Amino acid sequence: MKKRLKVLFVASEAVPFAKEGGLGDVVGTLPRFLKRLGHDVRVVIPRYYKIDRDFYKLQLLPYSLGVPMGIIGTLWAGVYEGKLPNSEVPINFIEFEQYFGRDGLYNDTNGQGFLDNDNRFVFLSRGAIELARMIGFAPDIIHVHDWQTAIIPVYINTIYKQDETVGKAATVLTIHNMQHQGDFYAGLMDVLGVGWEHFNFLELEAFNKVNLLKGGIYHATLLTTVSKTYAQEIQTPYYGYRLEGVVRERAKDLYGILNGVDYEEWNPETDKYIVANYSHDNLEGKLLCKSDLQETMGLPKRQDVPIIGLVSRLVYQKGIDVFAEAIHRLLGLDIQIVMLGTGEPWTHFFFPDMANKHPQKFACKIGYNNSLAHKIEAGADFFLMPSRFEPCGLNQMYSLRYGTLPIVRATGGLNDTVENFNEDTLEGTGFKFYDLTADAIFNTVGWAVHTYYNNKNAMDTLIKRAMQKRFTWEDSAKLYEDCYYKAVKAKRG
Ligand code: ADP
Ligand code: GLC
Repeated sequence: MKKRLKVLFVASEAVPFAKEGGLGDVVGTLPRFLKRLGHDVRVVIPRYYKIDRDFYKLQLLPYSLGVPMGIIGTLWAGVYEGKLPNSEVPINFIEFEQYFGRDGLYNDTNGQGFLDNDNRFVFLSRGAIELARMIGFAPDIIHVHDWQTAIIPVYINTIYKQDETVGKAATVLTIHNMQHQGDFYAGLMDVLGVGWEHFNFLELEAFNKVNLLKGGIYHATLLTTVSKTYAQEIQTPYYGYRLEGVVRERAKDLYGILNGVDYEEWNPETDKYIVANYSHDNLEGKLLCKSDLQETMGLPKRQDVPIIGLVSRLVYQKGIDVFAEAIHRLLGLDIQIVMLGTGEPWTHFFFPDMANKHPQKFACKIGYNNSLAHKIEAGADFFLMPSRFEPCGLNQMYSLRYGTLPIVRATGGLNDTVENFNEDTLEGTGFKFYDLTADAIFNTVGWAVHTYYNNKNAMDTLIKRAMQKRFTWEDSAKLYEDCYYKAVKAKRG
């Protein structure tokens, strides 16, 4: 019989409470599926100001949590408890007004990172360990995510090595993004409290700074990232952002596990946000969704024109700058483009301005809007993701399910989930390009649009196939489970 594992998830986001990107989706969803496999899972995130305690019926635990913060001293925090929706998975929220009592998870309203992000997330990390000790939750696995909680494996191997409750835990670090590493001034060592001897080129030091992600990569029992291709890519300079060598050292302990899709939320047959439901064997509803999208976005209502959709954080990672370079030429084609997103300040001016100049062809909404994201997935014909790097990516998987053929740069999870169209055999589920250039974007969109206008048979075949692809959390959770057993074995021998 397989052993039931106690798993502690610690992260900076979890849906539905707090989300900036796909990280929140993963942390809010994967624990529910691990629970269904029989494991005892608990999640810890900060109690950001925006998380409504009444709405989520959070209970304040009757003790305060002391979090040692090196030279800052011990800080005392409140702890709330709730459940992940539709599950019995407990989630704790660490409340500390001074660090989390503000709008924004990582950035202020101008998009600038908070100056105390180092202390905020070291506090979360150390706080989660202290919380486990306080409530007597002795994890077999502590699963941490990205730089924000990457210091936990360092703590477990140092300060807490002999600790009865957490000392035996194996640690798994999932890298959702290699660009953001949590690199801070060296003085942070005094706050970490692990001792300056760990400020060395193998562990926490990188280019004279403290690098929290590096510490995690060195110390975690096992590493994962969110696609097989990205697991390879981060071992190279372009994608490794100066930690490629560190990752290579641990290559044999690194696994690529694709994220799953929440098909209860993203299903054109039942989606509540769209005007008409549809399925792969009856696509009539999709045409209604298209008209509705055109109406919502103020574009001419034309059934015969292909719509290209984009929903994204409008940032460097997503290749949005290169898309901006290509858009003039794209608007020369007989197409419509629909865009939704927020991100770098320039994008909030450039794209709306472009939309004003081309009201017949381009519509853009700056903002975060889940129902509009659903309408775009359903109403568009193609979905463009020209990512510079994409560890997994969720939107291309949603697009497949909605029969909205993805046009993607073949990187990371985009490469692993989209199969390129083959004109001879009519195989494939989307359109891929390899170079991140305006030419490549233009030519590949052009190829897709050409197919739309001239090869209806191919379009129908691709759409039907795409809609039947599944990337489930059941499958991903089983792969994480395997990985956890390996980690426990590696830790305990
Ligand atoms: P990343 O985590 O890098 O942003 P993912 O593709 O993994 O990329 O996840 C992005 C998630 O955020 C998806 O669920 C997507 O629908 C959602 N999303 C991003 N921007 C917006 C937006 N402006 N409005 C609504 N949803 C958005
Ligand atoms: C990151 C990546 C994205 C991935 C998500 C969840 O935000 O940018 O590609 O899907 O994490 O793992």
